[in-house]
Parts: sequence; structure tokens; C-alpha cells
Amino acid sequence: MPAEKETDLLAETTRPSCAVISLAHVTREYTGRTAPVRALDDATFTIVAGEWVAITGPSGSGKSTLVNLIGCLDRPTGGTLKIDNIDTSAMSPTELDRFRSEKIGFIFQQFHLIPYLSAVENVMLAQYFHSMTDESEAIAALERVGLGARLTHLPSELSGGEQQRVAIARALINNPPILLADEPTGNLDAANQKIVTELLQNLHGQGHTIVMVTHDPEMAALAQRKIALSHGTVFCHPVGGPVVTLRR
Ligand SMILES: Nc1ncnc2c1ncn2[C@@H]1O[C@H](COP(=O)(O)OP(=O)(O)OP(=O)(O)O)[C@@H](O)[C@H]1O
Ligand SMILES: [Mg+2]
Repeated sequence: MPAEKETDLLAETTRPSCAVISLAHVTREYTGRTAPVRALDDATFTIVAGEWVAITGPSGSGKSTLVNLIGCLDRPTGGTLKIDNIDTSAMSPTELDRFRSEKIGFIFQQFHLIPYLSAVENVMLAQYFHSMTDESEAIAALERVGLGARLTHLPSELSGGEQQRVAIARALINNPPILLADEPTGNLDAANQKIVTELLQNLHGQGHTIVMVTHDPEMAALAQRKIALSHGTVFCHPVGGPVVTLRR
């Protein structure tokens, strides 16, 4: 395809009205001990609803910094970041907590489960920030990830793969359109990696937008598009892959 045509296609498929995540000149600078560290430098791109994007790059290139910004766990030091067309920079911490719990589910490499709570209680904890807790919904979320027989187990009584599936159920409980995953299979053996990978594929098929940090080329290949980082600078690969149903 001629370069000009390709640019048109990109502009069309990433037009602002479709963007579920949009960054314009976003920078994140940390104070640092001796000199400021620019962990993300002037990032401008959009991710459209229903896309599966892999964020790749060497250690220290700014992947977690970017995911934390998209997840509204951190704020840019420059530029504008919008989630679902909303600039969250003026929100109070309480508004932001609610916004985050409605829009975004988090899946981390370390599962971050509360050790003294059962599987179902860990999932219900995420509902708490959203609205009333509902045990039957938490049970349904665990059944959705194949853990209906492990509801009352503590994290220490679950395998690594099962713990990650509890974390995925927790991420899904408020039915957020966006799933952010930072190395979701980084701590798993091959069998559990397969289970979690298939779950992510199902969720993408159901219309969730997935933004996933990964070092693993096989995982990255599952995504429709790669956003590569190098020393805080973003390189976006063209949009491609199968068309999916958009979910708003
Ligand atoms: N709180 C902080 N204060 C100062 N510098 C930081 C802070 N957090 C991250 N950095 C620096 O910002 C850069 C990007 O860090 P980030 O954690 O985003 O990298 P990453 O790509 O996720 O790496 P990894 O693959 O190892 O997880 C690194 O140079 C890191 O040292
Ligand atoms: Mg990281």
C-alpha cells in the first residue's frame, strides 16, 4: 500500500470519535535522585474500542509507566490523556476511583490477592469500590474463569494459574470495557499460560478492549497491533488483524 494511503487508513481507524484511549503529547517525568527521568516522552496515539494492543519494549523503556497512566493510577506531567473521551485530570480522587472501577479492569503479573480473603471475597472487594457487593455476581465471575469449585479457597491454597484467574475474575466483576494487563502470564507455567491466554482471547471476542504489556513474542503476536517503547518513546504499528464487535 502506498505510504499516503496507509496514513489515511490509520487516521480513519483511529479517528478520535472511536478512541477509547487517547493520548496527546503525554509525558511522565519522575523527579529521580540526581536528575529527572523522562519515563514517557511525548506519546501521541489512540486505541479504539475492541482493539487488542500489545505494549512491548525492553526493561525500563516505560511500559508500566504507560499502563499506570492509562489505568489512571498515575497522572501525566504533560499532555492530555482521555479515557472514553473524558479527560480525568480534573477529577477528585473519589471520582477517579469510581471512574476507574467502571472503565478498567487490571490484571498484573503479581496477582495482588489479599492473602487472608477467600477467592470469592477477593473478587467482591473490587465490587466494593463500584457499588454494593453481590456475592452471586462474584461467584458467577469465578465460574466464568472456570473456578466455580475453588470459591472458598485462600490464595495460598490455589495454584499460580488459579490465582491469576481469580485476579481476572476480579478485573471482570464490574464489567469494564477496558482490560489492562501487565505481563499477565509472566509468572505462569506453560499449561496455565495457555488457560489465561484463552481467557483473554475469549474476552477480546466478547468485545473488551485489551491493552497488554508483554515480553513474550507469542503473546504479543495474539494482539492486533503493537505499541513498541524505546527509552520512553512510542512507536505504533499499523492497525490490522480481525475485525471485532465493538463494545461500549
Ligand atoms: N518512581 C520512579 N522514580 C524515578 N524513576 C522511575 C520511577 N518509576 C520508574 N522510573 C524509571 O522510569 C523508567 C521506566 O520505568 P518502567 O517501570 O515504566 O519500565 P518498564 O518498561 O515497565 O520496565 P520492566 O520491563 O522492567 O517492567 C525506568 O528508567 C525507571 O527506572
Ligand atoms: Mg514494568
